[in-house]
Amino acid sequence: MNTLISETVSTPAEVFAEAMSSLVSGVAAVTARTASGDPCGLLVSSICSYSAAPPSVLVAVDRSARSYDALLRAPEFGVHLLGADQQELARVFASRSDDKFGGRRWDWDGAVPRLTGSLAYLRCATSRIVEHGDHAVLIGEVASCRMAPGEPLVYFRRALDWRLDVG
Ligand SMILES: Cc1cc2nc3c(=O)[nH]c(=O)nc-3n(C[C@H](O)[C@H](O)[C@H](O)COP(=O)(O)O)c2cc1C
Repeated sequence: MNTLISETVSTPAEVFAEAMSSLVSGVAAVTARTASGDPCGLLVSSICSYSAAPPSVLVAVDRSARSYDALLRAPEFGVHLLGADQQELARVFASRSDDKFGGRRWDWDGAVPRLTGSLAYLRCATSRIVEHGDHAVLIGEVASCRMAPGEPLVYFRRALDWRLDVG
């Protein structure tokens, strides 16, 4: 693999990760209900708009995530696009905390844990799952969505504190 940054990284996987850190993305808390009826969720940057007809999103979930089984089994999942004021929530959902929902405002939207306060919330029905490598891609058909004003939380160069000036 050709690279201009090989002085600081060595393996192809490290070069790949370093190169992809140049991609600017938003982040989302993706939530679902576990088989035992509890809410679960994780932070993802692998979220994108997939198709307009039908309106669908795509998200990639790591096999090693504890939410993996629940997300692959649940008929629905929730996508919360995070705002710049939601860094704490982002860090907790990126952790392996057992209590990601404790002390937060959230409710059940049918079978989907819906967190209060995101820039956008989409309730998605899982329509396809593609397992590849160490991740699975979930394609979710958007059943409903809500938006709120605000600036996005931006992930770039492995940092979650970048700001987009959209004013
Ligand atoms: C900025 C950022 C982006 C992430 N993107 C993804 C992602 O797209 N897919 C994924 O499976 N994990 C992603 N993660 C890692 C998960 O959030 C992390 O493994 C989390 O602990 C999983 O929680 P769980 O094990 O409770 O399900 C990301 C983490 C960070 C900090």
